[in-house]
Amino acid sequence: MTPAELELREYAVLGLVAEASDLALRHFRHRDSLGISMKGAQDWLTVADGAVEAFLRERLAVLFPSDAVIGEEGGGEAADAVWIIDPIDGTSNFARGDRIWCISIGLLLNGVPEIGIVSAPALGEVYLGRRGHGATLNGEPVKVSDATDIRRATVEFGWSTRIPPEDYLALVGRGFAAGASVKRSGSGALGLCHVACGRSDAYAELHINSWDVAAGLVIAAEAGAHISDFFDSNAIEAGNPVLCCTPELQGELERITGIVSRHKDR
Ligand code: IPD
Ligand code: CA
Repeated sequence: MTPAELELREYAVLGLVAEASDLALRHFRHRDSLGISMKGAQDWLTVADGAVEAFLRERLAVLFPSDAVIGEEGGGEAADAVWIIDPIDGTSNFARGDRIWCISIGLLLNGVPEIGIVSAPALGEVYLGRRGHGATLNGEPVKVSDATDIRRATVEFGWSTRIPPEDYLALVGRGFAAGASVKRSGSGALGLCHVACGRSDAYAELHINSWDVAAGLVIAAEAGAHISDFFDSNAIEAGNPVLCCTPELQGELERITGIVSRHKDR
């Protein structure tokens, strides 16, 4: 894909996400008709998840018919150029009227994240990252914090029922024991963006799906974060562990999480 073709995709998708954000926000503001259901224990679904994903799929198919699409709700097959969509990340927050949720769209080319957009409409925030072009929040450049010491760091550990509670509690215990302030906000995509803009110093999760991180990883990497080898194996289909942190915290957090990268960032 040429740089011009990538640029076209970046601008087109920013427009699409703005429309999708309005759609999601309309649902968020009418909570009585959210049609809340459960996909499983602690796994929420609302009518907005399906509506936002359908909207994005329909538009992407018209704009870029040769690109593949994978979505959290509708699935899909990987390809050389593939959009990976989480229509609502942080669905449990969304369903309960908490504003920490987002729409996440990432474009991968040959397995490498190229463009990431994360929009948090209820917060009025749009993060954008493009490989080699930096990362922004509402158009302003962002970078990771200068945290070097775990005893002053704020670390977010994501959680889902895919991980046994004892493994999660042990992880959180190691984080606290090392001196970190530990939090969990309920949106993996925003958790990565919060590292990108310095609101957190690290985000880690023992298993996370590709639609949760496809956008956030390129945003965080472009903001200067260390990111683990998430897309190295068949993570698009099966997910993987993820670690994203300031470069100086990599060693300590690899020890705490066990999520060790083979690659060197820089
Ligand atoms: C979940 C959130 C959560 C993360 C989980 C995800 P959902 O996605 O991103 O923060 O820890 O791994 O499954 O269910 O809100 O779309
Ligand atoms: Ca998600």
